[in-house]
Amino acid sequence: MVQIRGLKKAYGNFSVLRGLDMNINDGDIYGFLGRNGCGKTTTMNIIANIIEKDDGEIKLGDGKPVKIGYLPESPMIFGYMTAREYLEYIAACNDFDGDIKSRVSEVLEIVGLSSAADRRTKGFSRGMTQRLGMGAAIIRKPDLLLFDEPTSALDPQGRLEVIDIINRLKSLGCTIVLSTHILSDVERIANRIGIMTGGTLAEEGNLKDILKKHGGDVINLTVRNLTQENKLSLLRIDFARAEFDEKTGLFRFGSDNAEETARRLVKILAEQEMTVESFKIGTATLEEVFRKVAG
Ligand SMILES: Nc1ncnc2c1ncn2[C@@H]1O[C@H](COP(=O)(O)OP(=O)(O)OP(=O)(O)O)[C@@H](O)[C@H]1O
Ligand SMILES: [Mg+2]
Repeated sequence: MVQIRGLKKAYGNFSVLRGLDMNINDGDIYGFLGRNGCGKTTTMNIIANIIEKDDGEIKLGDGKPVKIGYLPESPMIFGYMTAREYLEYIAACNDFDGDIKSRVSEVLEIVGLSSAADRRTKGFSRGMTQRLGMGAAIIRKPDLLLFDEPTSALDPQGRLEVIDIINRLKSLGCTIVLSTHILSDVERIANRIGIMTGGTLAEEGNLKDILKKHGGDVINLTVRNLTQENKLSLLRIDFARAEFDEKTGLFRFGSDNAEETARRLVKILAEQEMTVESFKIGTATLEEVFRKVAG
């Protein structure tokens, strides 16, 4: 859907994008990650043709025209309009060819605002406003949706609603790129991610592969009445990467083979007669991987 090669953009003599390569496949829900100010919004603005690039190539679609829908960080919504009026206005501004009224009703349904359609938007909650912004972004039936931090300002319930809508849009055939700092949302819906740092993508690929590559398997352990001696012996093992969090008392052992690591750990725990409080095999979280790659 989108192939970016060597994209460059500077503001004055401040280089934001320094030869960015990025691949967004058809049907992806692509989590676009990176620390504040790394250039996510800049990249999305360039893809959407809102600002100009300095250099590089962007290939959209396979020769076919690609319609893009964009949800900016803070969508501009007119409070004196109702949700329906606003979407009709957006459709008219975008030269929507087709029956605007029926398309607007359809969009209101997709973003869960049918029952609030005829209320003025100035009384809308943040979640409703965000969903209305999504409605505006999808009105022209875009192939590619760029959502800039769609869930950042929302409470957990509002975030779930937005995530449901994103899943629904995917099932309607859209490719979606979302920039966000809420990594748990990304873990929930994205199939692919890109992590930006230093003006390029430090990592891009299938979410599961990246978790495996950087985190591998992780064992979480807590020990009751932990002595200094116990602690040191666990931190000194050479068959896994051991970390200890003083605040929570949690050991984490990263390795490529959880079963083997678990067997060897259990042996040490038994030999030293430690009282195991909890022992759990899992995988690294995206947050851990993010800190490692972009931290
Ligand atoms: N119009 C502009 N003029 C000058 N500098 C700009 C302009 N727009 C963005 N920048 C700078 O470019 C860098 C990248 O900004 P951008 O908004 O793309 O980052 P971001 O990854 O979206 O950050 P955030 O996560 O905070 O939204 C920042 O350092 C920002 O200050
Ligand atoms: Mg941004």
